[in-house]
Amino acid sequence: EATAVVVVAAGSGERLGYGMPKAKVPLGGETILTHALRGVAAADVARQICVAVPAGDLELRELCEEFRQELGVDGPLITVVDGGSTRAASVRAALGAVLEGTRAVLVHDAARALTPERVFHRVAVALSSGAKAVIPAIPVVDTVKMVAETDGDDAGIAPEIVTGTAPREQLRAVQTPQGFDFETLLRAHAAAATFDDEQAAAVTDDAMLVELLGVPVHAVRGASQSLKITTPLDLIIAEGLLEGPLG
Ligand code: C5P
Repeated sequence: EATAVVVVAAGSGERLGYGMPKAKVPLGGETILTHALRGVAAADVARQICVAVPAGDLELRELCEEFRQELGVDGPLITVVDGGSTRAASVRAALGAVLEGTRAVLVHDAARALTPERVFHRVAVALSSGAKAVIPAIPVVDTVKMVAETDGDDAGIAPEIVTGTAPREQLRAVQTPQGFDFETLLRAHAAAATFDDEQAAAVTDDAMLVELLGVPVHAVRGASQSLKITTPLDLIIAEGLLEGPLG
């Protein structure tokens, strides 16, 4: 079946503190984006890989071009688009360049550069078994609570107050690649394009937009190696994974 993988790599990488887009940050002698693209190509699930890079970033475009040459003529089509100001806007830009006739789209964070092939396969298998939306998920180890800013008498004690505790056994930390029926994902993103700034800021993955349509979202097993490289600590962990037995 005709599948495309969208790789979003248009983030600023501010939290990593390298002073450059995260996709360019070195990891094991290469960039985060190169590792991410290798992982996608190795999984061999797509006829097209569509990459969203920061608008006007010629270096990352060049890197995608080098990768295209590395794959050769038999490899998937590599398409590069300018990303947007939010992750969802970057996904939308990439969806606009997906080939006609595509049935399924996997949306993947470049920041999850070490995602194992088996996770791509689990998502692809669930899609071909009829799911319209599939996400990789792992159990949560921390207890997760809701908080609110304190006001009134409590304000002098601490900045936040706990308003509830989520039952941990029902919680999952979700990862990418998230897989969708192409038409369903287009509908979900068309709805999101009309959000105001506050609503847009609350969109942290693609599956939540599909949930808003009332379409069931299925969860398969993710992997701890799929961590989203976000902070300097994550980069140390990723370097360790590359050097260690899991690399
Ligand atoms: O910032 P966040 O952790 O949500 O980023 C997740 C992924 O989305 C990263 O791979 C990042 O490059 C991408 N992103 C993007 N365009 C943005 C913001 C984030 O492609 N405007």
